[in-house]
Amino acid sequence: MERIPVRTSPPYAVEIGPGLRRQCGEILNSLLPGRRIAVIADTHTGPLYLGAVRESLEDAGFSVCAYTFPAGEGSKNFTTLSDILEFLARQRLTRTDSVLALGGGVTGDMAGFAAAVYLRGIRYVQMPTTLLAAVDSSVGGKTAIDLQAGKNLAGAFLQPAAVLCDTECLSTLPPEVFADGAAEAIKTGVLSDEGLFALFEDGALHTAPEQVIARCAAYKAGVVERDEREQGERKLLNLGHTVGHAIEKCSGYTMPHGHAVAAGLAVIARASEALGWTAGPLADRIVRCLAANRLPIRTEYSPEALAEAALSDKKRAGDAITIAVPVEIGRCTLKTIPVEELLPLIRAGWQVRE
Ligand code: GLY
Repeated sequence: MERIPVRTSPPYAVEIGPGLRRQCGEILNSLLPGRRIAVIADTHTGPLYLGAVRESLEDAGFSVCAYTFPAGEGSKNFTTLSDILEFLARQRLTRTDSVLALGGGVTGDMAGFAAAVYLRGIRYVQMPTTLLAAVDSSVGGKTAIDLQAGKNLAGAFLQPAAVLCDTECLSTLPPEVFADGAAEAIKTGVLSDEGLFALFEDGALHTAPEQVIARCAAYKAGVVERDEREQGERKLLNLGHTVGHAIEKCSGYTMPHGHAVAAGLAVIARASEALGWTAGPLADRIVRCLAANRLPIRTEYSPEALAEAALSDKKRAGDAITIAVPVEIGRCTLKTIPVEELLPLIRAGWQVRE
């Protein structure tokens, strides 16, 4: 089992290992003051894992209630949030009680947001069951729902009390859902270090997921500790996301997040190299690694459509937009460019050279 400390306020740990869903009660016993836990699951994770989680929590003396919502990004809205909040109130959860998010990014974001606003904030625990949630969204305390105007436009920062990642849950993921998480993991490799990136070139996501998740979580923990509220360095974690979010928007949110981020990462890598921002050749290596992990490396949407979609993103500030760009493996930087320079930038990276 791996244990990664996150020294935020309050501090917590990311625990990673096989079978944690059967040990969650024991682990949470000393971490949570209240004896009631509301487990929030979706229609995929509920039938698969709720039984084992409930049994472990009850064995440890917790009283458990559970709320299940329809799986998918389409549920990440005010209606589901309101249903969850009404459920917590009907169950009479108090300020010492907790929420446990059992699922992928949608569940974690939405259950976390519910915990952030219910009674002005109660504790919550993340139990990520997808690779994407394990390597990225469960760590760092970002919670949100989508608005009609765009993804994650209403939310709050609230660090979880713990992140418990049962690596056995990853074995039931369909290949395209697993690949979705690979995109965020590869992004972390580009940001953090050559050694981690090389693991993705060697297929280690499949052979040593625990080690890979621990390294991704450790990198993210460091960034979040230094910049909890995304005032500076944390914006680097948006590598590939400016174009990625634009692709998701152009697809009407039918393209999975990680797939869109992969294509966005390919675009920004090619653009950075073409504009002379990289320390040397870089794009082909990133693109090859994405493709080897069954991820898209190009997009059907035009540079004009992508630029227009990107400019309504929350990363825009007035007439400028800040973009994370790769310099070399293990070194990325933030560039703030005038909005009119975004279209030429996307054009420079959109051109498919493979
Ligand atoms: N997913 C990027 C972040 O947590 O900041």
